[in-house]
Amino acid sequence: MSYIIIQGGGKLEGALTVQGAKNSVLPILAASILHPGRTTLRNCPRLSDVEASVRILRHLGCRAEWEDGGLVVDASSISRWDIPDHLMREMRSSVIFLGAILARLGWAELSHPGGCELGPRPIDLHLAVLRQLGADLREEGGCLRCMAQQMAGREIALSLPSVGATENAMLAACGAEGETILVNAAREPEIADLQEFLCGMGCKVKGAGSSTICIQGRQATHDVCHTVMPDRIVAATYLSAAAATGGEVELRQVNHSHLSTVTAALHAAGCQIYSSAGQIVLRSDGRLKAAGTVRTAPYPGFPTDAQAILMAALLRGHGATVFVENIFENRYRHVDELCRMGANISVSGRVAVVTGVPALSGAKVRCTDLRGGAALLVAGLSAVGETQISDIFHIQRGYEDAVRDLRALGARIALV
Ligand code: EPZ
Repeated sequence: MSYIIIQGGGKLEGALTVQGAKNSVLPILAASILHPGRTTLRNCPRLSDVEASVRILRHLGCRAEWEDGGLVVDASSISRWDIPDHLMREMRSSVIFLGAILARLGWAELSHPGGCELGPRPIDLHLAVLRQLGADLREEGGCLRCMAQQMAGREIALSLPSVGATENAMLAACGAEGETILVNAAREPEIADLQEFLCGMGCKVKGAGSSTICIQGRQATHDVCHTVMPDRIVAATYLSAAAATGGEVELRQVNHSHLSTVTAALHAAGCQIYSSAGQIVLRSDGRLKAAGTVRTAPYPGFPTDAQAILMAALLRGHGATVFVENIFENRYRHVDELCRMGANISVSGRVAVVTGVPALSGAKVRCTDLRGGAALLVAGLSAVGETQISDIFHIQRGYEDAVRDLRALGARIALV
């Protein structure tokens, strides 16, 4: 079993190009089956979640190969509409394929994706929007059997701005007759990237980034080449690491407007941050102040995915920061592991209070989930002594090569 070893205490210095966004490329890979032709993705991150999506595409009958540094999908010969349990269980967000399979084939069969480390991951909103488009969905023994021979576009109001349900609705609406208007849609930048991809395929989609998205169905007509947007949470991770250790780090190929709530919190904690077209520079003395109250919220609010990561950066700060996790029920599982390193964190329901301590100590810790694992990287870099991180498969779901990236910034880190 591999694990990551960190000798903490050194500053981070240097420049790094940020990888493509996991949460953009996963729905785009599902969308690639909408058109019986080729999709070429540039800046596609090499992640275990991407490989899981590739296995699903191949199972469905598509060709999916890495060529010239990009990922190429040929969906012309798609032959199946089912996703078996073992593929669904590899990646909870596989449910994003449901709308696209229905749009392309009119049938779909997949096992219920089930919960994950963040708590129950219901898909009621996904199913509600598909039913409103005319799909007949039956849940039998943990399996979803779906038929949608004639989906018809209409106005659909989401009860909450779910990222996945918005994306599933967009993909299903591409196969519906007429126009679909999504109201109270999620506004995350990854949805705007999906819209750009769909328009590149010939679809007529507009409004992404706002709460109202309009989709004209049955327009997916040609091959598309798309460059995946930068990963704003990976960028937040490396900025938080530099904030925690002290030093100066420049991130390239990043859209600073996508993580402005994170940089605002880091600035409040005492970091100096400069941003311009495509880059962000962060300078820190490594002794951060409290950042006030951090409330996670749908975009453009503070991203839930950065909650654990910012928390890790503030562990050695002066004063107390209050976190309120408003998106997921069970997103403080990293706290116990951080406390093994000497952190002072108290959790009550959705609220976690982080009180800065003079120093953290390296320890043997275990990843509990993707972003909780990233938080352990940040804490280990700023701790005194050696930190050993196990269950790193969680990290590999969303970070192409965190060891390579952090080593490029001067971290004493290795994969063993
Ligand atoms: C996406 O998950 C991201 N994953 C998550 O990133 C991210 O944390 C989340 O959006 C919020 O930004 C991908 O894009 C692959 P939601 P998703 O539907 O779509 C509830 C990471 O670390 N809900 O916006 O699953 C749900 O339980 C991952 O990269 C329902 O109740 O998030 C949650 O409390 C983790 N019913 C809230 O809505 C539904 O049908 C927001 O979930 C769907 C969601």
